[in-house]
Amino acid sequence: MTTISEARDSAYDWVGKAVFYQIYPQSFLDTNGDGVGDFPGITSRLDYIKSLGVDAIWLNPCFDSPFGDAGYDIRDFYKVAPRYGTEEELIRLFEGAHRRGMRVILDLVAGHTSMDNEWFLAEAANPKSPDSNRYVWLNRDFDPAVGPARGDFLGNFFWYQPALNYGYAEPSEPWQDSVDAPGPRKNREELRRIMAYWFDRGCDGFRVDMAGSLIKIEGQPRAQAETQRLWQEIRRWIDETYPGKALLAEWSCPTAAIDAGFHLDFLMHFNAPGYPSLFFNGVGSLPAKEGPCYFHRDGEGQLKIFREEYQRQLQGVRGKGFISLPVANHDFQRLHCGPRSAEELRCAWVFFLTQAGPPTIYYGEEIGMRYLVEAPSKEGSTLAGITAVNAGAANGERAGSRTPMQWDDTDNAGFSSAAPGEIYLPLDPDPDRPTVVGLEKDPESLLHFVRKLIALRREHMFLGADASYEILNPDDQPYPFLCVRRLDGAACIIAINPTSDARTITVALKAHHGEFLLNVGCEIVSTNGNLALSLGAFGYVIVELLHSS
Ligand code: NOJ
Repeated sequence: MTTISEARDSAYDWVGKAVFYQIYPQSFLDTNGDGVGDFPGITSRLDYIKSLGVDAIWLNPCFDSPFGDAGYDIRDFYKVAPRYGTEEELIRLFEGAHRRGMRVILDLVAGHTSMDNEWFLAEAANPKSPDSNRYVWLNRDFDPAVGPARGDFLGNFFWYQPALNYGYAEPSEPWQDSVDAPGPRKNREELRRIMAYWFDRGCDGFRVDMAGSLIKIEGQPRAQAETQRLWQEIRRWIDETYPGKALLAEWSCPTAAIDAGFHLDFLMHFNAPGYPSLFFNGVGSLPAKEGPCYFHRDGEGQLKIFREEYQRQLQGVRGKGFISLPVANHDFQRLHCGPRSAEELRCAWVFFLTQAGPPTIYYGEEIGMRYLVEAPSKEGSTLAGITAVNAGAANGERAGSRTPMQWDDTDNAGFSSAAPGEIYLPLDPDPDRPTVVGLEKDPESLLHFVRKLIALRREHMFLGADASYEILNPDDQPYPFLCVRRLDGAACIIAINPTSDARTITVALKAHHGEFLLNVGCEIVSTNGNLALSLGAFGYVIVELLHSS
């Protein structure tokens, strides 16, 4: 077994080569029968996670919380939520992962806390004190006996998640601090304390929640520059004090996040365009706001929105950091959503695992778990009415992506021994729901396909994060998807036809094909400096390119 000893290498190196696996701890595996997943459950499945080809696990927040936003409302940053287990059990999870050559990333909710956090309670009890400066108080005249209400402080996401005060880039009201005022300084120092606490216990990095929003007013260029400065300072401190630890951003604007010092940013459903145009098919948490989606059998989507943005972002981060296009996450619909078929899913997987940056796989995606439209709202899962980052969702129900992992055919799909009514969220009631055990038995299953794609990515450097990535489709021919990847004189092309009709594409490339690494229904002919590819319905190919210029 590979072990991670002293991580003295730069995080840039390992992050770039990694495949990440995101675990929603409440929904992964419950070992004590209380209906909620826990640390020992995750630890007991590390071999499974490793078997996928995963290098690093990202855990959604697992800290003490009243769970008004499923843990993104933290009461105590230095204490794990008892429902997941003890700090010792989390450390055992780190150790188990390290023994298997994997790393563990925790979630840092930098921008806000729960209203039950003792920092907030202390200020609420003394609203007029000049020391009450770690939050942004809009009104300090509330009755301390009753406590602050909505509108008395700045909320960061849901109104009941009070924003930590990192100051304003251009203060224009008496209650707006500058970025170096005492309150903002305390909060910056606290960030380091929190990170150091968990680094010292074995955590390998943080995914930072709403990383681009700390300094207000979000959206102002100067606020962005100040937020970047804050993270650059943290990155310098990490490089000096905790080399090898990673910083991943939830910013969805990689050029901004990487300049701020992050190693990686997720490009997804907000800030930058493109991701919804590929996958959002009108069913699920977030709407199809960029027209009919690309990965759809009808073939009515466009590639231009994504291509332009992705290529621009890649250009901006090359050599400095990475972009991950996640295979779903806890905030939007799973890939298997609405009418998307098994064949369409595979096309999307070929795209995801040949992307330019490190792939991130949300738990259960590898077995094709579906977004459960009927899942009831749970712990702030609904975004209806939210005016922050995810605005625009008609229903915005995230619960359908947070249902329990489906392990086997025993009760509750092997997730928990609790009574069905006591499970965190109901399981997919479909009698044919996919399970890990079921898919393991079938060599042709999605699970094995995902493993194979990960193995290919690992084996061929031209599929990894160091290789260039160029989408070749002209604007007027979005299908089939065609992209060329090159590294040190080696090259490959990836072509995908997610539609139910045969498709061909011809591009000017002085090359002929070499070894096929994967081929379902594709023929290639090279003549007179042109390369012509014909792909059957739902076909795809990854093929080496020889003598490319
Ligand atoms: C983004 C997180 O991914 C989401 O789940 C959460 O509700 C908000 N940030 C607020 O922390």
